[in-house]
Amino acid sequence: MNLHVASIEAEAGIAGFVCRATDSMWTAIERALDNGYGLVFVTGSSGEAVARLTLQELREAIRAGVHLGHATLGDIARPGDLDDPASPVAPILDARRHIVGIEKRQGAALLPVAEPDLSHAELRNLLDAFLSTWISSTGDYITRFESGFAARTGMSHGVATSNGTVSLHLALAALGIGPGDEVIVPDLTFAASANVVIHLGATPVLVDVDPQTWCITPEAIERAVTPRTRAVMPVHVFGRPAPMAEIRDLALRHGLYVVEDCAEAHGAQYDGQPVGSFSDVASFSFFANKIITTGEGGICVTRNPDLALRMRMLRDHGMRPERRYWHEEAGYNFRMTNLQASIGCAQLERMDAFLDMRRKVHEAYEAALGGLPGVDFPPPMPPRHEPVTWFSCALVPAEARPKLIQACKQANIDLRPFFHGLSSMPAYRHYARKCPASARLSACGVNLPTSRKVDGGMVERIAGIFAGVLEAGGS
Ligand SMILES: Cc1ncc(COP(=O)(O)O)c(C=O)c1O
Repeated sequence: MNLHVASIEAEAGIAGFVCRATDSMWTAIERALDNGYGLVFVTGSSGEAVARLTLQELREAIRAGVHLGHATLGDIARPGDLDDPASPVAPILDARRHIVGIEKRQGAALLPVAEPDLSHAELRNLLDAFLSTWISSTGDYITRFESGFAARTGMSHGVATSNGTVSLHLALAALGIGPGDEVIVPDLTFAASANVVIHLGATPVLVDVDPQTWCITPEAIERAVTPRTRAVMPVHVFGRPAPMAEIRDLALRHGLYVVEDCAEAHGAQYDGQPVGSFSDVASFSFFANKIITTGEGGICVTRNPDLALRMRMLRDHGMRPERRYWHEEAGYNFRMTNLQASIGCAQLERMDAFLDMRRKVHEAYEAALGGLPGVDFPPPMPPRHEPVTWFSCALVPAEARPKLIQACKQANIDLRPFFHGLSSMPAYRHYARKCPASARLSACGVNLPTSRKVDGGMVERIAGIFAGVLEAGGS
């Protein structure tokens, strides 16, 4: 990890929120990104606080033509609006108006369920990629991101794509899945996992998940195998790894491909091995709410060099890399841009810190909400499964869930219900087996806000809202 990156991860103290009026706009932009609140406080010549400056105002100044290299913060900050009640943070001032602390104001601004954590490191990489003029899908950052991410999952090849849906599509297409084939998919997942199977003309067979792991089981797969089954797609839902060694063995016995959907589980492990390393091809998503992001983005990882080559060719219109404009077959344009990959390279360096932050947020929720009537947390996983926190999840009484979501909304907090089980939706029902465990999870599950803005105070506030609703009877 480089020093710049290391310095962002400690929670920003006062210095992380303060710029001098003589500082450049660039300084304020980087500091506002790094402190996570999108603003800084500007001080005058004797250290007194004079203004509050947000990224929104900096963007407006840039759009109005203010020159990044010439303007100082004194030129653009509007003195006097230090104490906006809608601001999530406010400076604590002494008698001389020097900043002696930063007050976090719970509820002043919307707390989203997820937020990308973008720092100066991503911004500098992005600027570098932009200045290189390699802004499409060739460039240093693409190769760095592909090899760096593949190494992180213990795989030898990474093929970056424009999102985590087309990476699943690419994996299945490269394996030759098509009309007449069946692919076994868990019912509790984001619809992209099944959609790609349908778009390839194959049939998703939706099976129930295990109430303890929330993932597909070898037994459920075994029951669903038919002579038409070609592949199985375990999904490590909400960061919880499926029992991959057993699934891989079962697939080998039945001659099935395994395509792991790791969109929500960067860094999770099974048997001490990273998810993504158990399958023929594994797919990850880098959408803005994922553990690391490239804005939109995805990747396929594999240890099979022929498969990697085939995915590279299919990703690029089916063209042979060494013979320009010669199309071996009708391929796709599923490429990632160098700009996206530049963000990804910085995020990859910060991934361990993100995982640590997410784990701590989840532990804080467990401690504060755990004793409330009707609130459950994901069951501890059996010893060989090492989950990560994507969204922190809780289970609440189904009838209380709408009221909890509403009460949080009134407090400016975004609480989300789980995905609908695919089998509950008309578009997918006819592909499904009976899925009672998935239906129960989907009726009771909530995703709690999971970002660096969730501190002890915020967790207590959410616990208070839950207690108010649940102790009053909930429904
Ligand atoms: C399990 C799962 N699979 C696939 C995807 C698709 O990824 P993307 O949004 O990058 O297309 C997602 C994204 O939300 C997901 O959660």
